Formats: sequence, structure tokens, C-alpha cells
Amino acid sequence: MANIRFYHDAVPLEMHKAKIVQRIHLLPIEKRVEANRKAGNNAHLLRNEDVFLDMLTDSGVNAMSDRQLAAMMVADDAYAGSASYFRLEEKVREIFEMAYFLPAHQGRACEHLLSKVFVKPGMTVPMNYHFTTTKSHIELAGGQVKELVIEEGIKPESTCAFKGNMDIQKLQDLLQRTGSQNIPFVRIESGTNLIGGQPVSLENMRQVSQICKDNNIKLVLDASLLADNLYFMKVREPLCLDMPIKDIIREVGKCFDIVYFSARKLTCSRGGGICLRSREDYQLIRDLIPLYEGFPTYGGISVREIEAMAVGLEETLDLDIISQGPIFIEEMTKLLIEQQVPMVTPAGGLGVHIDCARFAPHIPQKEYPAGAVACALYLAGGIRGTERGTLSQDRTQGGEEEPADMELLRLALPRRVFTLSQVKYAVDRIGWLYENRELIGGLRFVDEPSVLRFFFGRLEPVDAWQPRLVEKFRKDFGDSL
Ligand code: F0G
Repeated sequence: MANIRFYHDAVPLEMHKAKIVQRIHLLPIEKRVEANRKAGNNAHLLRNEDVFLDMLTDSGVNAMSDRQLAAMMVADDAYAGSASYFRLEEKVREIFEMAYFLPAHQGRACEHLLSKVFVKPGMTVPMNYHFTTTKSHIELAGGQVKELVIEEGIKPESTCAFKGNMDIQKLQDLLQRTGSQNIPFVRIESGTNLIGGQPVSLENMRQVSQICKDNNIKLVLDASLLADNLYFMKVREPLCLDMPIKDIIREVGKCFDIVYFSARKLTCSRGGGICLRSREDYQLIRDLIPLYEGFPTYGGISVREIEAMAVGLEETLDLDIISQGPIFIEEMTKLLIEQQVPMVTPAGGLGVHIDCARFAPHIPQKEYPAGAVACALYLAGGIRGTERGTLSQDRTQGGEEEPADMELLRLALPRRVFTLSQVKYAVDRIGWLYENRELIGGLRFVDEPSVLRFFFGRLEPVDAWQPRLVEKFRKDFGDSL
């Protein structure tokens, strides 16, 4: 992002260097077949030692900075009253301008607490788009989720700069129909994960905030992917072009009553946290923290992580740091489009998103096309991605499959982890797979959990398509790994 011009072709240029590295290995394809079979055709069940490029997620696997590691060394180990907590609380106040902060062990723990305190049976939580764990927690509390993302949001190919925006008219209609007493809060997810890491504009946040104020409803921000979202606001939104990131984040903060986040994403550390404006909300949640997390000055995580969170939050204000993910993702998306691979556009945050409805149109949704392409890519290149489609959605209460809006294969680019050559290797293998897409077949469950089935579910190929793919790989790549 630094203003560096190239004489010939521009590349995404990192403003950091590696100090510590981890050795990785690529198994031969026959061993990958075996590992995939043992994992029940589910990337979540693979052993990481069998994976070459782990693009499953950006959660808890971002590279930390030297300043974060240094801060961890001076953490104040204490059950109660740790100085590390007060440093983080101070940082949160400075950045979001919210009076209260409660740490939790990760993002979904925040969702659990918010749902437990605010959601009552029969209530509706409007949001731009759900995240898997968010939806499950709201439903466990007896509520239901209503998705109000703009129509453009679920079109894989688009030129819309803020596909994560909430449809204002739909929100107003819903409020009229449902009545504000049945809405515990409205939720906006920054860097909207399941539709391709797509950002929400500051203007949209302000509009939603005004409607919530007018109707006396709390507005909650899921800031897990806020770093990417801030970058997109800075480069795509006229309102923000001349604003330093620090000011943008403050303007974002002003729109919300509560901000929660997974620190595994936002601050490149571990843990999570809830920032609150009102003392009353703070007290309601604080009282549950010792029950579910730990004492409120450590929240179930090590105080070293609390120190790393404080530094990580501060580092989200540095454009050179927060731009690395999005510019690598943009580059990888561009290279894949050059190979004709159908992609979600514009490129968002978190990772690249392959549109498997177009990649493998011959596989019906009930045979999980994105899950099948995920398996095929592990076989083709030892690359582990995440299915974000029908497989990631649980069945309805009546046991019916609920076809997802989009069938995506997400290849996460954890921040500062992969090099451009590794990205190019992945592009090469995906390009090959696309040329051979007819060889990929569907999957079916052999063991299907009823909640968050994509984590532990085991599947099998619907026919013998995997040996055919291996045979073609050997024909094209000889004895290559
Ligand atoms: N909200 C969003 C938008 C997320 O992307 C996640 C996690 C959570 C909440 C839950 O946070 O993992 O710390 O409990 N997303 C990860 C992913 C798991 O791979 O996309 P957590």
C-alpha cells in the first residue's frame, strides 16, 4: 500500500520481512488420497502435517508482529487485576471510544454471551448476513436470523464496492412488520465472511445506525474482519479517502452500541472481546463472564494474548499492515481470472473465493459442489480450503437440505503467512483443476451431525471420481509431488 511505483509490472509488495519460519511438506498425491479418505472428505478433519498450504482459515493463524511477541514477554500474569487487561481496556477506549471492555476466549464466546443476554425465544435478529456460529447461537437462544444484505451481495460477479451493505428499505420494512420490541439488536458484520469477505461502507453503517436510534434498538458490530473492511473503506469510499484509519475506525465506532470481535482474526492473536457503550449492558454480560470464560481481567485466555491483542489493535491503524491481506487477495483473484476460473468479484478480504456453482455446474447443490472442489484441490495440490456453501448450512428443523445462496470455496490468505510464489503455485493447481473440472464428482454424507455439520461430518464421493483425477494428475505432472 505504500506509495511505491513499479517500472514494469506491479506486484503486491510487503512492508515487512520474515524473522521466523515454519517448514512445510508436500505429500505425493497417492498419500494425499489416503489422508483425504481418513479425513472423511472433510478438510476440517485433515491433519495439518498432511497439508502443504493451509488456506482453511485466517483464524488464529495470522503471523504476529515482533512488537506483539515482545509485548507477550512483559505480560502481567495474574488471575485478577492484571496490568495487561488495563492496557488493553485503555487501547479499546482509545480506538473505539467505548467505555467498557470484556475479554472472552474467542469470537463465538462473545456471540454466546450476547445471545444469552439479549435474545429471547421468538425474537428476530436482523443482520446483513449470518456467520455460522452467530446463527447457531441466536437459534440456540430461541431466536431467528433475518438476512438483509443488498441484492448485489449474493451475486458472485459484481462491480459493487460494498457488497456487504444492508438493504435499508428491507430493514425499515422488517422493523414495521416485526415491531422493535421483538428485535434484541441489529447486527452488522464487517468484511462479511460468507459472501466473500465483502465490506460494508461507513455510509451504510451510519444509515443503519440512524434507523436503530430512531427505533430505540441496539446496533451491534461484528468487527472480526474489520481490518480488511477499514482498508476497503479507505481505498473505495469517497467519504474516507482523505481520512486516516484512526479517524475511520472512530467514525465506525460512533455508529454502534456494542462491538465484538474474534481476536484470532482482528488482532492476529487469540481470544476475543466485547466493547460496550452502556454500563447496563456491560453489567449484564460481565456477570456471565466468570461463569463461561474466566475472571473478566483475563476472559479465559492467557494474559500474553491480552497483550498481543492490545498491540494488534493498535496495528490495525497502520495501512501498510492492514493492506497486505487485501492486496494479496486481489492479486490471487486476478491471476485466477486470467486462468478463466470463476471468482467472486470484486475481491474481498480474508481470502479468495471460487464460485463453485460455475466451477462445477454439473454437481447438484445436494452433492455439495464447493465441498467436492475443496477435496479435489487438496488432492491436486495439498491445498486446504474451506467449503462455504450448502455443506456449511445445517438442515432445516424439518430435516430438509437448505441450498445456500452461493457455493463458494474459500482459500484464506492468513495475514503475512504466504509468499507470492506459494500463491502462484496454488493458482497453477487451481487452473489445472479447472481445466479438468469434468472429472470432479459430488459428495454425500456418511455421518452427519445436526449442528455445524461441516466441522465433524464425514462424507464419501458419490462415485469413483477421485482415482480418475489422480490418474490425470500423474499423466500431466509425471512424478511431481
Ligand atoms: N464472526 C465472524 C465474522 C467470523 O468470521 C468468525 C470466525 C467468528 C465470528 C467466530 O470467531 O472463530 O474466534 O470463535 N470465523 C472463522 C473462519 C472460524 O474461518 O471464518 P471465533
